[in-house]
Amino acid sequence: MLKTKRYTITAALPYTNGPLHIGHLAGVYIPADIYARYQRNAGNDVAFICGSDEHGVAIKMKAKEESKSPKEIIDRYDKIIRDSFKNFNISFDNYSRTSLKIHHETAQEFFINLNKKNVFIEKETEQLYDIEAKEFLADRFIVGTCPICRNEEAYGDQCEDCGSSLSSLDLINPKSKLSGSKPILKNTKHWYLPLNKYENFITEWIIDGHKNDWKPNVYGQVKSWIDNGLQPRAVTRDLDWGIPVPVEENKNKVLYVWFDAPIGYISSTKEWAKKNNKDWEIYWKDKKTELIHFIGKDNIVFHCIIFPSMLKASGDYILPTNVPANEFLNLEGRKISTSKNWAVWLHEYLEDFPEQEDVLRYVLTANSPELKDNDFTWKDFQSRNNNELVAIYGNFVNRVIVLINKYYQGVIPKAESLSKYDFIVLNEIHSIPEKIGKSIEKFRFRDALKELINIARIGNKYLADEEPWKLIKTSPNRVATILNTSIQVVGILAYLSEPFLPQTSLKLKKLLRIELFDWGILRNKSILKEGHIINQQELLFKKIEDKEIEKQIDKLKKNQSE
Ligand code: 2FM
Ligand code: ZN
Repeated sequence: MLKTKRYTITAALPYTNGPLHIGHLAGVYIPADIYARYQRNAGNDVAFICGSDEHGVAIKMKAKEESKSPKEIIDRYDKIIRDSFKNFNISFDNYSRTSLKIHHETAQEFFINLNKKNVFIEKETEQLYDIEAKEFLADRFIVGTCPICRNEEAYGDQCEDCGSSLSSLDLINPKSKLSGSKPILKNTKHWYLPLNKYENFITEWIIDGHKNDWKPNVYGQVKSWIDNGLQPRAVTRDLDWGIPVPVEENKNKVLYVWFDAPIGYISSTKEWAKKNNKDWEIYWKDKKTELIHFIGKDNIVFHCIIFPSMLKASGDYILPTNVPANEFLNLEGRKISTSKNWAVWLHEYLEDFPEQEDVLRYVLTANSPELKDNDFTWKDFQSRNNNELVAIYGNFVNRVIVLINKYYQGVIPKAESLSKYDFIVLNEIHSIPEKIGKSIEKFRFRDALKELINIARIGNKYLADEEPWKLIKTSPNRVATILNTSIQVVGILAYLSEPFLPQTSLKLKKLLRIELFDWGILRNKSILKEGHIINQQELLFKKIEDKEIEKQIDKLKKNQSE
């Protein structure tokens, strides 16, 4: 019997200030989706949770740039992002929004609870204020000269030229982006989470406890934060866009977006539980639940230090079992950049490659930036499609289905006595589900995908070695056995492809006329019985021509010259 486990799987909530690109899919959503689909197929209880991250300065800036209200911005991008997730078959159980009432209430309750427990420190500090606009200035609303490299366009929190982290008070000649005036210093009170008090907890839990089972890139980043010492962090901001700080004396203060966003996982789970008549609390408070956060590397500190400290301080929440953060994906050797339009946008990809979402899923998994940054190139995209999906996967499936239709009118023939080679092939194929499972459990999605394509490779070699088309007149029994063996391989491929290539898996199951499954079925030696009737062949993948790739490269270049 399979042992059922419960998984709360979260994927970073995307900011609704722009559409999604391939970096988002490769870094977070595809690995999370493969993991969630795999766990469901393994018979486990899964809540796969996400939603739009709709607060914070980034949204306010975008609204200002476009002379729109923040609400107009979030509504527009929430829709575009939702559509992309749907089109790429990311199988969230719930996709919520942090602008919803359920989230505002959940985040405020969370704050009130911590405040009651005296977790926060209240502190007055001097912050930059724009007297003309009558607003305190968030770091991103202040520009000035970087004290390190003298870049004149550095932001209050970071210089994008030299990469240094800055404080807005470090900038030389600071200017407000709201009015252009020189900001003054003004006193303001904020609530701080004293992270320094949680150093021991993080050290025991991660540094001592997860050295061997967390990814080295994640572990290393946490260790360096701890080695440098943690400081109290403000969890409130002077801003007019966000969740009001739930205290009586509040004047124009909101929760810091990084305080409310991860609570979005909880409110999204609550929303899902309500719709489905479930108890949300067991997904967040039962010690037997495995909580897994899928994120990109820029989110590590929030998911491994700040949010866990908040969960710990609030008392009854579980902590993540693992945070398998990925590194970054580059595009044609350069960092993906929204502002420089150096990106492959998901909605545009589907205009140029309609119904080929699985090709992108495949290439991004094969090239996933699991342990180090990685590069997406259009040439590699083309060659993986043509040489792997078309030439290996598609070709194998097509040959088997064509031959069974041609020789047996689509009825699976009976296997007579199996040869030694047939046994070897079947045994090898039957060992693959476990290998794929083990790799996925370790968040090694590239290895898992290699094993998947290996199934088709073994199948292709088997057909090429056995050449059933040459034996049909002389040894019909042998041909029946070869094709029975081959269709078992196709069946396993159909089932095992589901987490990686959901659309292809569905098409293939329709071709084979088989139903959905759970992982257990793969233990059967013969998953497609003799006498079962399959459909006529249909191409699963198609060759991508040079001119299609040139068009994409030209498009990237054109965006740069505009
Ligand atoms: O980096 C980002 O895009 C953030 N919007 C991720 C938030 S993850 C979570 F905490 F909500
Ligand atoms: Zn600089």
